[in-house]
This record gives sequence, structure tokens and C-alpha cells, in this order.
Amino acid sequence: MLNRFFILVIVLIALVSGDKKSQHPNVVVLLADDLGIGDLGCYGNNTINTPNIDKLASEGVRLTHHLSAASLCTPSRAALLTGRYPARYGLVGEDGTPPVIVHVSSRASLPLTEITLGRALEAANYTTAIVGKWHLGMNCALLGRDCDGPKKHGFQHFYGIPTTLVEEFRGNHRFWIIDFNQPLHQALIGSWLISVVTLLYFRQKMEFQCMTILFFGICLSFFFLISWFVSTHYRFHTLKWWKVSPWLDQFMNGLLMYDNQVIEQPLQLDGLMQNLVSFSVKFIADHAHGDGPFFLYHSFGHVHTPMFTHPSMAGKSRHGRYGDNVEEMDAGIGAIMAALTEHNLDETTIVYFLSDHGGHLECVDNEGHRVGGHNGLFKGGKGQGASEGAIRVPGIYRWKGHIPSSVSIHEPTSLLDMLPTILDLANLPQIHDLLPNLPAREIDGVSIASLLMRGEPQTARVFIHHCQRSIHAVRWAKDGHVYKMYIKKHKFPEGSHQCGWGIMNLCSCFDESVTDLTDKPLLFDLSSDPYEDDPISSATEEYKEVVTYLLDYLDRWQERVHYPPSQFRKKSDAILSLWTQPFCLDCTKRN
Ligand SMILES: *[C@@H]1O[C@H](CO)[C@@H](O)[C@H](O)[C@H]1NC(C)=O
Ligand SMILES: *[C@@H]1O[C@H](CO)[C@@H](O)[C@H](O)[C@H]1NC(C)=O
Repeated sequence: MLNRFFILVIVLIALVSGDKKSQHPNVVVLLADDLGIGDLGCYGNNTINTPNIDKLASEGVRLTHHLSAASLCTPSRAALLTGRYPARYGLVGEDGTPPVIVHVSSRASLPLTEITLGRALEAANYTTAIVGKWHLGMNCALLGRDCDGPKKHGFQHFYGIPTTLVEEFRGNHRFWIIDFNQPLHQALIGSWLISVVTLLYFRQKMEFQCMTILFFGICLSFFFLISWFVSTHYRFHTLKWWKVSPWLDQFMNGLLMYDNQVIEQPLQLDGLMQNLVSFSVKFIADHAHGDGPFFLYHSFGHVHTPMFTHPSMAGKSRHGRYGDNVEEMDAGIGAIMAALTEHNLDETTIVYFLSDHGGHLECVDNEGHRVGGHNGLFKGGKGQGASEGAIRVPGIYRWKGHIPSSVSIHEPTSLLDMLPTILDLANLPQIHDLLPNLPAREIDGVSIASLLMRGEPQTARVFIHHCQRSIHAVRWAKDGHVYKMYIKKHKFPEGSHQCGWGIMNLCSCFDESVTDLTDKPLLFDLSSDPYEDDPISSATEEYKEVVTYLLDYLDRWQERVHYPPSQFRKKSDAILSLWTQPFCLDCTKRN
């Protein structure tokens, strides 16, 4: 009798606690890379096919004034996951440094003192996974072990690429490069020959033993081999000292990792999108009916160069390789959403879709075709700091039965809002309560849960827009107006909104490349002038009032918030360090 009673109690407890667990919804974040706000059907594009993203918008809330916190991948992703401006922890470029994390084996990385949404949800007993692009640094120890990658930032599962896709991952690159026209190579080969002749001469003259000669010969050749390798595969002699040869880039940075193991080296691009999506679909299936909720951060390698598309999807779109890439990614989103529906998770899963920053206007491939995205009528694009096209990104929240469907919200919101918003929507405490031992920190994003669920307007809000480490503009949403004040602006050639053409083309945020407007800021009211055509005259009362407020806001900000130097400033932290390189000893090709 007593036994039965006990069993009953245990079953009841299990039921109650099981119930409690299922109160918190699953979270799926779908992040597109370099996708422009003008590239989606639901944002007004009528020639590109994005039925799955359009469906997401029709089933949820579409944010039309959704902002990124940076115009490049690394800082923008850091902002997304932490809710904090990346300049606060030095994960931004500076004059003369690389603008993002370039190598898997670099030291620069998201500090472990920063709390990602992964860490927060893990503390709330979620099963957490990142699939796809990380790009927040690995900072591995000797031989690529014990990395500070996603696994130390709250993601229990990692299946993806530690940095980003780059053009170099395509094709086969040569390792043995000997260029007789290059003075450096001429000098190396010349001195090697002289050394060998000298050695042989000494052998005859002084009757050295064969072994001695062999030993010296090997030592010398080794020395020359290392010199050749460094001068050929590292590009210290160029302005972009962090660059390496295409072979080194492809072989050392083009990795597919599963948790802490490299499972493909170099990365196989063909079918990568499908491979990543299959992993996510399986993750959903495996955790759909588990003990607790799950968090899936699916970060697409698409739609970043090198714009490869599976042969079955290539050539289908009306916009070349770029359009094919967008449509292939859309199909991937369809597959992930289908998995949620199949497992009956539509009403218990919050889905957030976004792009990390604007489309890359300047991007052209080797054949001269444009392969970058399109930012609608907004001026500027990827890499251009505070330009509207650089930071105005698509953003869709969908949670059936909780967030209304087919609604557009025009209030300014930011991807910085993800962390507090998700915690709020999921009915979880904010991070300081979730992680009670956490040192105090300011979160720059705010929860937009009540805006999403009930359309409740937000209170006045200021957004700071950085170009790498430098502040270029501020935005003030107040009483229905959205003011944007520039204190620095790129000097574009007359009539243009880009700094040039080419995959490697990137606007500088500093010195001669920008006009300093601090003494006479440029002010727009985006609520009546969304595409920044007519600046507000500096003679108006409105101008004086807004500019005074915002300049004062910036002064107080700079007094209070001190940005550390860029993590990329120390060359030894930014270069490819072979000794901390994760590698794979027995990689076999994926089928
Ligand atoms: C749709 O997207 C393509 C690809 O980026 C772009 O070329 C085209 O101009 C866009 N069309 C509209 C109407 O925005
Ligand atoms: C997570 O699980 C622990 C142990 O079961 C429990 O004490 C804690 O309240 C849970 N946290 C949340 C946010 O549900």
C-alpha cells in the first residue's frame, strides 16, 4: 500500500515538474549572412522567390525599422548574442587592423565574461545548439585544443564553421608557389644555391665528414623552406598584414567542426547549406519531445561569397548566383519550419529570422558580375558603418498563438533586443536573475515583447551607430519621430553610395575616408524622410533642440562608457597562428 502511495507521489511530482518544464517555449533563431532588406518578397521584392520567409512574415510580426548594431559580421553577431555593443569589449576593428575575425586560430574572440543568449538559456535548462557560422573567435590553446568557441558560450552542440565563408574556399589553390619574378623568391633561391655550393666547397677543402655536411645541408634547407613558407603564405609585406595566401586560408579557415572536432578540412562547399539544415532538422526531431525546451541558433553561411549553390538549385533565380543563393537559403528555412510543424511545435516555439547587416553593394565576382545584396532604397550597404543600407535589416518574429500574424511594426527596434526579448517572451527572468553571480553589466538592447505581442509602443529610445570602433551617428526615436544625426560620414564619390567595387573593397571608417561633422551634424527625420534625401535645416528650432540633446547624450555616453582598444590591434592576436590551429588528422570526404 505504502509502496503504491509512493509511486503515485513520484508520478505526480514528475507530471507537475514535466508540466513546468513545458511552460518555456523553444527558441529558433534563423540568421542570414549579408542579406539585404531589399532581397525578400515580404519586404517588397517582386522578382526574387522567398516563399518560406514570406510565409514566416505572414504568420508573425515583420519589423520594418529593424537595425543591426554593426555593419560587419563579427561585431554584429556579438551584438546579437550578447545584447551589448561590441565596442564595449573590443570586438570591433580600428584604423589599420582587420575589421573582423579573420582566422580560426586567432586569439581575438568574444570574451568569456560576455553572456550570450546561449549561456542564458542554458542556465534556464534549455538544450542549446549552434548550427552554421560562428565567427566570434575560437581562441584555442596549443594544437587547437580547448577552444573558447561556442561550446564555452553556452552552446552544448556546435556543428558548423568557426569563422565565415570566403571566396578563397572555392576551387583548388596551389601550395607550392615559386615565382621567379618575385625578388623575395629570387633572393631565397639564390642564397640557398650559394649556401649549397659553399658547403660543398668546404667539404672538399676541409674534408668534413659526409654526415656533417648532410646535417648542415638539411638545417639550411629547412631554414630556407620556412622562409619560403612564411614569405609565400603569409602576407606581412602587404598593407593587409592579416591576410594569408588562398591555400592557407582555404586549408586552415575552411573547416567544418562538430563540437570540438574538425570533421572536414578543407570545407566542402557543395551541399553545405543542405548539410547544415539537415543537422538542424535532426536536432529539432531529437529534442522535440525531450525533457526540456531547446534553443537552436541556425546561422546560415548563405548569402555570403563565394555564392555557391547546389547544382539542383543553381540557375533557377532571376538574379544570377546571388539570387540562387537567396532562394536556396529560403528553401533551407522552409525545411527547418517544416520540421517544427511536423513535430507539432508551432505554438511552442519562438522563431526569429534576421540578417546580420545590409547587403554588400560593392561585391563583384571574378567574372565581373555583381554578387552582393540589395538594400531597397536605403543608401549604402555592408561595411559602411552608420549608412542606413548598412544596418537596416529584415527582422521577423513568429510564435503562433502568442504573437499576432501578418502585422508590420514600423517602430525602430534592434537585433540588440534579442536577448532581453527572448527571455521576456519565454517568461524567464533577465540575465542577472538567471545568473545571480554575474557581475553587473549594462544591456544595450531592450525587451520588445509587449510591442510584439500587443503592439504597445516603446518609450523614447536612442541607438548609437558605430563604424568599427568609431561612433558615426545616433538615432533618437521620440514621439513618432525618428531622428538620425551623423557626426561622421563616408566621403563617397559624387552621386555614389559606395567606396568602389570588388569583393575585398571595404570602406574605411577613419581619417581621410570620412568627413567629421561633429561641429555641424547632419540631421534627418526618418519618419518623414526615410531615405535621407533632405537634411533638416540647421536654422530650425527642431534642429537645434534635437542636435543639442543628442550631442549631450553622446558626451555623457563617452564619459561613462569606456571602449577598450580593439582586440585586433595586437598583431599576434589577429594573425593566423599555426600552433593554435585546430586540425583534422583523418578527414574523409563527405558523401
Ligand atoms: C530584388 O532583388 C534583386 C537581387 O538582390 C535585386 O537585383 C532587385 O533590384 C530587387 N528588386 C526590387 C524590386 O527590390
Ligand atoms: C533548472 O533546473 C534546476 C534543477 O532542476 C532548477 O532548480 C531551476 O529552477 C531550473 N531553472 C529554470 C529557469 O527553470
